[in-house]
Amino acid sequence: MELVRVTEAAAIAGSRWVGLGDKNKADGAAVDAMRTFMDTVAMNGTVVIGEGEKDEAPMLFNGESVGDGTGPDVDVAVDPIDGTRLTALGYANALSVFAVAERGTMLDPSAVFYMDKLVVGPRAADAVDLAKGTAFNVRAVAEALDKPVEQVTVCVLERPRHEGLVEEIRRAGARVKFIMDGDVAGAIAAARPGTGVDMLLGTGGTPEGIVTACAIKATGGVIQGRLAPLDEAEEEKARAAGLDLGRVYSTDELVTSDNCYFAATGITDGELLRGVRYEGGRVLTESIVMRSASGTVRVVEAEHLAAKWDRWLKGDAAGE
Ligand code: FBP
Repeated sequence: MELVRVTEAAAIAGSRWVGLGDKNKADGAAVDAMRTFMDTVAMNGTVVIGEGEKDEAPMLFNGESVGDGTGPDVDVAVDPIDGTRLTALGYANALSVFAVAERGTMLDPSAVFYMDKLVVGPRAADAVDLAKGTAFNVRAVAEALDKPVEQVTVCVLERPRHEGLVEEIRRAGARVKFIMDGDVAGAIAAARPGTGVDMLLGTGGTPEGIVTACAIKATGGVIQGRLAPLDEAEEEKARAAGLDLGRVYSTDELVTSDNCYFAATGITDGELLRGVRYEGGRVLTESIVMRSASGTVRVVEAEHLAAKWDRWLKGDAAGE
């Protein structure tokens, strides 16, 4: 519950900026709330996966110490808003995300901005291999799920760089479900039953890849990731950091601990979670909390007093 308070706070703070067209303001509000609430968590945390670097957005810095300093030593991965543009434009599927794992167990891929990703749920977990290409994996998923390939749905970030990938998916006979942003939510949908999404493919942020690995561990699914450097400078940085550029990293290589926690709260309404809403003086949130050691996935609905949050967000009260 301590962890979900962190994403609830970030989501509520970020939600004040939904549809207002300013993604940096939204992110800044979520970052501040996340930082404040993380310091109430009994942990001695180090941010290994910070976020925001790409567009000089506000961020929680890699190496920053978080937590109240009393609890276990942990690596922390944060994404105060996955889907800053979704938030600013009022589109669906923006989440606030936070994950912790034992100290020293999260891969630090920060030398490289992008990663090729493949995510599936437990039934197809042993059947896929990112190195074997799109057609192989689409067929493997169809077989593992025991359905015709034309019923397989692959979630893909809508980007010009994915034109070739989309063609390959369609040529293999499967359907594409585009998302505008937010491949953490897309990945969780691919790994959980009953979402209508069977697989996620494509290139997205490396921080989101590590955060996703923490979540996927509790589902029994897999994420496979291969670093996708943008240029020679990134390649060199990656080599200097000891990263293996040709390698397909498995879920357990992205995050080696099998004792990690993941929490996410919806900011805008989405397929995974409802967004923050305001009703009768209450703020309503919906979150998901996952624990890998037990494979538990909990959905947490919460009601908060809107007046308290108003005061806290204006900086003159201690919040919840
Ligand atoms: P932000 O909310 O930090 O902008 O990230 C959104 C996101 O869509 C991620 O979910 C995804 O991994 C990444 O951006 C993809 O990067 P790009 O927008 O450069 O294609």
